[in-house]
Amino acid sequence: MTLSSQGRRDSNPQPPVLETGTLPIAPLPYAGSPAAHCMRLKALIASRHGDPALKRYRLAGTPHVNARGMIERVTESRNRVSKRIAAIEPSATLAVDSKAKALKAEGKPVIGFGAGEPDFPTASYIVEAAIKASRDSANHRYTPAAGLPELRHAIAAKTIRDSAYDVEWNQVLITNGGKQAVYQTFATLLDPGDEALLPAPYWTTYPETIKLAGGVPVPVFAGPEAGYKVTVEQLDQAKTERTKLLVFVSPSNPTGAVYTASETEAIGRWALDNGVWVVTDEIYEHLVYDGLQFTSVVTAVPELADQTVVLNGVSKTYAMTGWRVGWMIGPPDVIKAATNLQSHLTSNVANVSQRAALAAVSGPLDVALEMRQAFDRRRRMMVGMLREIEGVYCPMPQGAFYTYPSVRGLLGKTIRGARPMTSSQLASLILEEAEVAVVPGEAFGPSGYLRLSCALGDSDLEEGVGRMQQLLGEAR
Ligand SMILES: Cc1ncc(COP(=O)(O)O)c(C=O)c1O
Repeated sequence: MTLSSQGRRDSNPQPPVLETGTLPIAPLPYAGSPAAHCMRLKALIASRHGDPALKRYRLAGTPHVNARGMIERVTESRNRVSKRIAAIEPSATLAVDSKAKALKAEGKPVIGFGAGEPDFPTASYIVEAAIKASRDSANHRYTPAAGLPELRHAIAAKTIRDSAYDVEWNQVLITNGGKQAVYQTFATLLDPGDEALLPAPYWTTYPETIKLAGGVPVPVFAGPEAGYKVTVEQLDQAKTERTKLLVFVSPSNPTGAVYTASETEAIGRWALDNGVWVVTDEIYEHLVYDGLQFTSVVTAVPELADQTVVLNGVSKTYAMTGWRVGWMIGPPDVIKAATNLQSHLTSNVANVSQRAALAAVSGPLDVALEMRQAFDRRRRMMVGMLREIEGVYCPMPQGAFYTYPSVRGLLGKTIRGARPMTSSQLASLILEEAEVAVVPGEAFGPSGYLRLSCALGDSDLEEGVGRMQQLLGEAR
């Protein structure tokens, strides 16, 4: 590739992935030499398939000439995409967000409640640290796969500061966003068939990454009446001899539920007594309201440290979703194994992003506290307005930046001639009729709920929920 061609569109576009299988080709009399035979075969296929991209795709396999000079098969009969990867559902939250953005780009006045990211810019001192880092050639090179030692030290210090959890710097592995930490943790802990207890509603990435790691997600549902919080009794019922781990997320995406210190301790103790690992996702640790205190499960039950992996990142606390820095903290053997995995997957996270994250985690929490004030105000406004809609039941979230109303009271009713029976159908109707994008509960577990993010301006929020009030108020 020449320098001048860099940055242009892919000059070798691949055809879309098509359904595959054996290509049925009738035997063709042998043309004398394999090369000539191939040419004739290609011409035959080309005459049957007009699309040149398709032609090339179809010819991807090597024609095999059998002993009698006949072509036996031209493509592999195996599926092109593995069953494991083909089974992955796309991220529903990203899908809603991109649908809303696409409609907006068409000029439609869509208001999107799908986004899972703060609507604030990254603080300028963090951006400045990145600018400075990008000028330092040391950051233009590979660095240790587990992350910059300075950042690992700073995260260990931040973990003591924020969670009173005392960890060594080499127990910290820097990942490409919290998402990579989620995947690597399951891949490191789960063997095929191992079960992972997953309180539901759950963040949409957990079941997919558990399955990808060969594990079996076992949802344990707690509805709005229970404040979307599971109990030890429920966990006990769901546990089998294949249970390897429990996913614990407080504050929760999608529900905003926050477990109290005593609930957290009870769950931690249950995990300890039952030899169950805890994967605790603490990415919303600084977004708690109503004077509540975030409690890390491993601080509540310190003996759990040897069977706990803490997941976290800078995305939500510092409005840094695009920088892609997260981390996992765990026992040294687990972190070592996960680092080996990461060394073959992605190596080190971009150094400039790591330097920005270093400025973030070693700096003050003012940015997070400012955002928290805005989210607090918006969640109250949103819940107040949603509660005015007949058929909607909406607990007040105590953490994160989402509300998770139950819309079961609306399903089966007629709204502008339609009769949505699922929250997915209702979300489509809301998008079509009110031009408001919300994520249906199906993305997070059972149908019957919607997730609305508070990460948008107050006036958009008021306008969007106002449009929903108007539309859903017509339900009969
Ligand atoms: C609960 C939870 N964990 C982890 C993440 C991952 O965030 P990121 O990959 O942007 O760091 C998210 C993002 O939405 C989340 O909601």
